[in-house]
Amino acid sequence: MLCLTLTGKSEQECLQQIEKSRGSIDLVEIRLDLLGHVSADTVRNIVTGSRLPSILTYRRKRDGGAYDGGERQRLSSLCELVACGVTYIDIEEDVKRPELEQKARELGVKIIRSCHDLEKVPSDLYARIVKLKKRGDVAKIAVTVTCVEDLMKLFGARRELQSLKEKVIVGMGEFGIPSRILYKRTGSLFTFTSVDGKGASGHLSPRIMDGLYHARSVNEDTKIFGIIGNPVMHTSSPRIHNPGFHLVGLNAIYVPFLVDEVRSFFQLADLLSIKGFSVTVPHKQAVLPYLGKISREVKLIGSCNTVLRHAMMWKGVNTDFYGFLDPIRPLLDASRIRSAVVVGAGGAARSVVWALRNHYCRVTILNRTIERARDLAAQTGSSYGPLDDHAALESADLIVQTTSAGMPPLEEIDPLEGYSFSKEQIVYDLVYKPRYTRLLSRAAEAGCQIIFGSQMLIAQGVLQFESFTGFNYPEGLDAELL
Ligand code: ATR
Repeated sequence: MLCLTLTGKSEQECLQQIEKSRGSIDLVEIRLDLLGHVSADTVRNIVTGSRLPSILTYRRKRDGGAYDGGERQRLSSLCELVACGVTYIDIEEDVKRPELEQKARELGVKIIRSCHDLEKVPSDLYARIVKLKKRGDVAKIAVTVTCVEDLMKLFGARRELQSLKEKVIVGMGEFGIPSRILYKRTGSLFTFTSVDGKGASGHLSPRIMDGLYHARSVNEDTKIFGIIGNPVMHTSSPRIHNPGFHLVGLNAIYVPFLVDEVRSFFQLADLLSIKGFSVTVPHKQAVLPYLGKISREVKLIGSCNTVLRHAMMWKGVNTDFYGFLDPIRPLLDASRIRSAVVVGAGGAARSVVWALRNHYCRVTILNRTIERARDLAAQTGSSYGPLDDHAALESADLIVQTTSAGMPPLEEIDPLEGYSFSKEQIVYDLVYKPRYTRLLSRAAEAGCQIIFGSQMLIAQGVLQFESFTGFNYPEGLDAELL
């Protein structure tokens, strides 16, 4: 089940949030601490208007809520409002108020015993859950996940606490997001979402949890794929793979994992039987020692963006290489591109330079830091120069921009500011958000053929999808959604 935590300040706002999410949620949590005015009428109207089971919660500041008044007042409000037709009441671990529990029981309201750790995952996590369950119908623990190893403890609960059915385990913070999307793999009965993400740290919206991830459909047979990176939540890859799985009717899910240590992630991948994953910055080199097999491109470039389970080992391939080539392949085949300038000398530039060199293209690498351009040029048999090397730029059939200039927060930066494109040139910017960078807008105005970063993003994602699933990517992907 997906539970919508209501973050509206008024009854009307809460009802609007419910209507917006209808169909994607099974349960609502009425958060008295977030409501501007707490009254029996408000609670009753939300319960009736929602036409869904509901949880009554009055969260204190120290547990991550907004209530900072007296405890007596809080508990007496709960005692009164538990009679407003709710299905569950959330009572924190430390609360000893037998009359509240008794009243709930008389009314047939189930008790969720909850506990929150806003700093860490407690070392006695499983024992705490067992203890909570003894004092309520449902045990709920929300803990702060600060590394991949923590996340493993949450997923380990499914096996360790197999017999304890009615529990909810929530990993807060960005490291905890997979425990929300894959809540069923923690053995949880439900998980929380909020329309604006303001319900708690790491909340995703119902639209994302249901519409993108189909989190409720995860079952024993669901194949798990993902992406590792740091940061990772900005990535568009889930918007390529999840709709792809859906369109071809595969029982699979693709989840973003914020990863600090690659070593821990490989352990987690075994625990969750992850079938394959994408790799983004800064882990493209760090995964190499864990791979039993690598493709020719990974060996050449020294970086891997796709890891697949292959027999008893992990295999690494690099779809950036072919993804980059995909939009320009006809131009290369027609010998329309014989020389290229690559702007930048980082990880992204490496794949691009190798892909071009492999297609017999003359390459000049221009970079802000000349030493990096020189090193990459020496390794790849290319030339190099500074960003204002206009002679190199003028003689290039293709100019490829591979740096982060043009991408927020550097959206105002055009690394080739002083250079005027000639209309015969093809200009390719790897930045995909925004679609038109300053550099690409100038190239379009000059009449150049332009190639968008999203074209490479989609091409590398499609190739990845095919390596993951063995299926051709289906028709129907909406590039505008990326
Ligand atoms: P990635 O793996 O995404 O390519 P990287 O290895 O950190 O990331 O490389 C970033 C590239 O963007 C480098 O070529 C960097 O230039 P320097 O080598 O001089 O650092 C380039 N870059 C980043 N910000 C830039 C800016 N404001 N102007 C020009 N180049 C920039």
